[in-house]
Amino acid sequence: MPSTIVTLKLNGAERELIARPSTTLLTALRETFGLMGAKRGCAQGGCGSCTVLLDGRPVVSCLIPVVTVDGSAVETIEGLADGDRLSDVQQAFVDLFATQCGFCTPGMIMSATALLNRKPDPTRQEVTEAICGNVCRCTGYEPIISAVLTAAERRRGARLEPAEAEV
Ligand code: FES
Ligand code: FES
Repeated sequence: MPSTIVTLKLNGAERELIARPSTTLLTALRETFGLMGAKRGCAQGGCGSCTVLLDGRPVVSCLIPVVTVDGSAVETIEGLADGDRLSDVQQAFVDLFATQCGFCTPGMIMSATALLNRKPDPTRQEVTEAICGNVCRCTGYEPIISAVLTAAERRRGARLEPAEAEV
């Protein structure tokens, strides 16, 4: 099959690439657009290190032919920070020491971000379920779960009106 022009809304910007049918979204992100945050771990859908948001939902980008997501919105870890200001989930990972080698961290943060966007007040069980497709060999998961719960708590606090927050 011939190559195809694919358009993505990538971290808020319209981007185009020419892709072969076999080109995965992960390959397009890393090799065409130079976005190296999503990691290639297993390349088989089993580790979650390549997780990005596709139209707001977390997906393993190593399994998705990019030609099948033409016209979609893709968000990667590079799109979360606002300049030097980390996103609330990123900051909580720093504050709670939720990263060691860091290989799983971008995927974890994207899964956690999708959860908090969908559910601002998740239970511990819901956090665990949200990251169950993301493998971490270093942390034992506890600091990661604490970081996600902390980010949720901070996000809810930030949404309170100032007068309400003082009560
Ligand atoms: S690299 Fe995609 S799930 Fe492991
Ligand atoms: S921090 Fe090393 S794999 Fe998670």
